[in-house]
Amino acid sequence: MTRPRKLYVKSFGCQMNVYDSYRMADMLAPEGFAETAHLADADFVILNTCHIREKAAEKVYSELGRVAALKAKAAREGRRLTIAVAGCVAQAEGEEIIRRAPAVDLVFGPQSYHRLPQLLARAEHEGAVVDTEFPAEDKFDLLKAPSQKAIRARGVSAFVTVQEGCDKFCTFCVVPYTRGTEVSRPVSKILAEIDRLADAGVREITLIGQNVNAYHGEGPDGTAWTLGRLLERVADLPGVARLRYTTSHPGDMDASLIAAHRDLPSLMPFLHLPVQSGSDHVLKRMNRRHTRAGYLETIARVRAAQSKMAFSSDFIVGFPGESEDDFRATLSLVDEVGYASAFSFKYSPRPGTPAAEASDQVPDDVKSERLYRLQGAIDRQQAAFNARCLGRIFDVLFEKPGRYPGQIVGRSPYVQPVQVMAPQTMIGGIAAVKVTEIASNSLFGAFADDGADAEPMLMEA
Ligand code: SAH
Ligand code: SF4
Ligand code: F3S
Repeated sequence: MTRPRKLYVKSFGCQMNVYDSYRMADMLAPEGFAETAHLADADFVILNTCHIREKAAEKVYSELGRVAALKAKAAREGRRLTIAVAGCVAQAEGEEIIRRAPAVDLVFGPQSYHRLPQLLARAEHEGAVVDTEFPAEDKFDLLKAPSQKAIRARGVSAFVTVQEGCDKFCTFCVVPYTRGTEVSRPVSKILAEIDRLADAGVREITLIGQNVNAYHGEGPDGTAWTLGRLLERVADLPGVARLRYTTSHPGDMDASLIAAHRDLPSLMPFLHLPVQSGSDHVLKRMNRRHTRAGYLETIARVRAAQSKMAFSSDFIVGFPGESEDDFRATLSLVDEVGYASAFSFKYSPRPGTPAAEASDQVPDDVKSERLYRLQGAIDRQQAAFNARCLGRIFDVLFEKPGRYPGQIVGRSPYVQPVQVMAPQTMIGGIAAVKVTEIASNSLFGAFADDGADAEPMLMEA
């Protein structure tokens, strides 16, 4: 029997890449590839890359330096190591990657990974291959389903891509170019995939898409279903205890989705709703298609439907033309909303996007100073939110062994990690936990007394 070849996949960037990396491993499993977590053991290395900011794209090249050295070492030992670059840098840079890193054998974009076995065979027999087409066929129809064993190894919380690509064209963003136009998967395919995951013990499903709430996939009745309607249907599937979705655009929070937060107990009361800026002038130049007031109104509507709601967001500081007053408008929006957590980034000009051409770029030292102030404000809000959790009881889904021996760690409804002393046999279970201690971003807790119901936290400020 031949030794199974070892596959090492490293994901950069967003949840879509995490999902895609699993699908690539699933495509290669029937070809005799077993996954390894150790780069040094690999026969085939795939870097699944992100192009969203310059730093993210540059990470790939430093990683490629390390992998190229391993390839040379393998060659000296008479072994072959094949290197592929997948994902959004592959889509954006194509052949340029092989020019900059000649050790790379294969470059393919997010729409080609269903062809991976054929691409790999070509790269091994014919030399370097680049495939960044947007093919006509639906890759989701051609992908291989994971084995039950693979699903179990990936844990009790799983991502399911329901929508891909984006038609919004925010002026700073590469996603519409790297992922293409917006496409939604049909409801029946999504339900079948989730059924399979739930059968193997998955308890929490996060529906994902670059613009997930623009979902408009074909329902069993032949009409286009909204995300709210899809969530309602998924909530009925046996075994699925918790539902989430990400990432949403503020302009696509429709009534059906807001009603889902009111009506579905398994839909977690947490919403990542990126706003980017609190200034209407900046939002307009970003082509965000929503105003500050519109965003705040959406938040208020979601809160009115579900009082337990907590929010997170993404922010960009130092977008071209952002003045100190614009930036203060962002700080005041943060104050007004009161986030449980948030991500913030310095604007990074991306080749091919309109904002990169603007003549009024903000100097880097100004961006750094604004980022520092914004992150300070966000950190204070996060600490305040966590502090309000002290003494509360809520349901925790246990995911894996914890930080210290004897501990397991799970997630609260608000995605905070919660560490509890408990046997590992409880992983995959959901239990009511009382929060007894807070340390930076982790909560520590103990099982609530028998019979105590997890009391939903009320998040009104
Ligand atoms: N589809 C999501 C976000 C996709 S990218 C949305 O519409 O919000 C994730 C985050 O990266 C964005 O929310 C934005 O805050 C950040 N980002 C995107 N392009 C960027 C750029 N050029 N510079 C800095 N941050 C950027
Ligand atoms: Fe990028 Fe804007 Fe689309 Fe989000 S909505 S993926 S930020 S273009
Ligand atoms: Fe990055 Fe592509 Fe996701 S650019 S954020 S990996 S869609």
